[in-house]
Amino acid sequence: MKSFEKLLQDNKAWAKEQVDRDPEFFKRLSSLQTPEILWIGCSDSRVPANQITGTQPGEIFVHRNVANMVVHTDLNLLTVLDYAVNILKVQHVIVCGHYGCGGVKAAMTKHNFGIINKWLRNIKDVYRIHQEEIDSFQDEEKRTDRLVELNVQEQVMNLAKTSIIQKTWVHEQRPHIHGWVYGLEDGLIRAVFEMPPGTHIDPLYEYDDL
Ligand code: CO
Repeated sequence: MKSFEKLLQDNKAWAKEQVDRDPEFFKRLSSLQTPEILWIGCSDSRVPANQITGTQPGEIFVHRNVANMVVHTDLNLLTVLDYAVNILKVQHVIVCGHYGCGGVKAAMTKHNFGIINKWLRNIKDVYRIHQEEIDSFQDEEKRTDRLVELNVQEQVMNLAKTSIIQKTWVHEQRPHIHGWVYGLEDGLIRAVFEMPPGTHIDPLYEYDDL
């Protein structure tokens, strides 16, 4: 059996299992989506949002890209963010990175990855901001892991720089923004940074006509 055929077969088994356990499961889910959480994670196949958090379909609205970036010109990310915040009215936004992230590792090299350079450039910018601290570690893995943590922190701050978040902070005191890092080696998530609604940000990025 080919790998994609196994997916379809396993899907049948999974759907049956859900209905056996809860006959109304799909009927309920298909009529309403009310997740409280927006997850912005890495595309890495080893960090599936629902599985590592023990959540069910319907509980988390998910956006994933290489190295869990919040890039202010990324229409895909901005659409997901606007929809989650203003239509779904999520209470929490979680940026979840992971140790050993290939995207972060790649950004720390001088290797030319072609078009991917343009995406990694955003991570290189985070490295530049925190270069002194990151380069103070002798161990290469520690340097990568620290950049993973600082990258998550910068992406949380990038969310707070959007008018979408600033407006909802002012008018509805939500969402709470969290920066997490998942450990591939132990399956555990560490909270490394957070910005509750109303957190002060650099005035350079503040809008006053929200
Ligand atoms: Co990654």
